[in-house]
Amino acid sequence: MNKTFKNEVHEGLSSNPKTLSSKYFYDKKGDAIFVEIMNLPEYYLTRSELDIFQNKTHKLIEAFGVHPDSYFEIIELGAGDGTKTKELLKVLDQENYNFDYFPIDISSNALELLKQDLKVEIPNLNVEIQQGDYFEVLTSLSDSKKPKVVLFLGSNIGNMYDEMASKFIYSLGANLQAGDQILLGVDLIKPKEIVLPAYNDSQGITAKFNMNLLDRINNELGGDFNLNHFEHQPEYTEKEGIARSFIVSMTNQTVKIEALGQSYTFSKGEKIQMEISRKYNDQLIGKIIENTDFILHEKVLDSKEYFANYILKRN
Ligand code: AVI
Repeated sequence: MNKTFKNEVHEGLSSNPKTLSSKYFYDKKGDAIFVEIMNLPEYYLTRSELDIFQNKTHKLIEAFGVHPDSYFEIIELGAGDGTKTKELLKVLDQENYNFDYFPIDISSNALELLKQDLKVEIPNLNVEIQQGDYFEVLTSLSDSKKPKVVLFLGSNIGNMYDEMASKFIYSLGANLQAGDQILLGVDLIKPKEIVLPAYNDSQGITAKFNMNLLDRINNELGGDFNLNHFEHQPEYTEKEGIARSFIVSMTNQTVKIEALGQSYTFSKGEKIQMEISRKYNDQLIGKIIENTDFILHEKVLDSKEYFANYILKRN
C-alpha cells in the first residue's frame, strides 16, 4: 500500500497537469471528515438516497423480483455504517424474506460496528461480514451460486472516469450469474446552483477533505507542503455533468518529499486535479453498461429527483 501510494504520488506530481488520486483521501482522518461531509446541509447526496431507501423501499424490493419463499443474498460493496441499507433490511426482515446480508468493507472496524448495530436493530438477520478488497471477496462469494443483489451506493461509482466505471461493472458481472442484479446508486445531472455547493460548502469541510491528502503526504512521505500556500477549488458545469476538485498553488513554490527524494515545482495558479464526481442520466448509464453483461432493469428516484437507484440485471 505504502509503496503504491509513494509511486502514485510521484507519478501524479510529475505529470502535466498534476494529479493526486482521491482514493487516498480515506485515511482515519479522511474517513471522519467524510462523515462530516455527509451531514452537511449542502451535501444532498446522502439524504436523497436515504429518501429512496426510506420511502421507496417496496419499489426497490419489487424491482429485485424477489419472493419471501426463495432464498437470495444481499452483498454490499463499501457498506460503511449501513444507514441507508438498514432501511431496506428492516422491511425485508419484517416481511419475512429469506436472505442473508454480506457487507464488504476495507475497514474491519466499520464492519464490526455494523454487525453489532444490526444485532440490536434487526436481531433475526444473518450478517456475514467480509473484510477486504471488493473483487477478492466477490470471487469467494461467487461459489455459492445463490441469487444475488449487489449494492453499490452513494454515487461511489462517480469517482471513476466512465471507462473505468464500465470496466468495474463488467468485472462485477464476471463474478455473478444470469439474473443477478446490481443496485447502483448515482447522483443525477442537475444545475450548478445545487451541485457546486455540495463540493464547496460554506464551512470549508470539503476543502479540509482535499487538503488532508497533502497533510497525509507530509506525514507519511515526509513532504513539506505548506497548506497555507494551497487552496481548494471545485468546478462544475451542467453540460459536462462532472464536479471536479482541484487544489491550486497560491504562489510559485517548490515542495520537497523526503521519501521520494524529489522536489516538485508549482507555479502560481497551477492546479492539482484531485477528484471527479460524475453525475449521470439514463443515456450515460446506458453507455457505461453497453459493453457489460447487464441491462437496465428499473430506476427508482427520490422525491426531488436528485438521485437514482438503477437496478441492473445480469444477462
Ligand atoms: C464518495 N464520493 C461519492 C463522494 C462524492 O460525492 O464524490 C466523495 C466526496 N468528495 C467531496 N465530497 C464528497
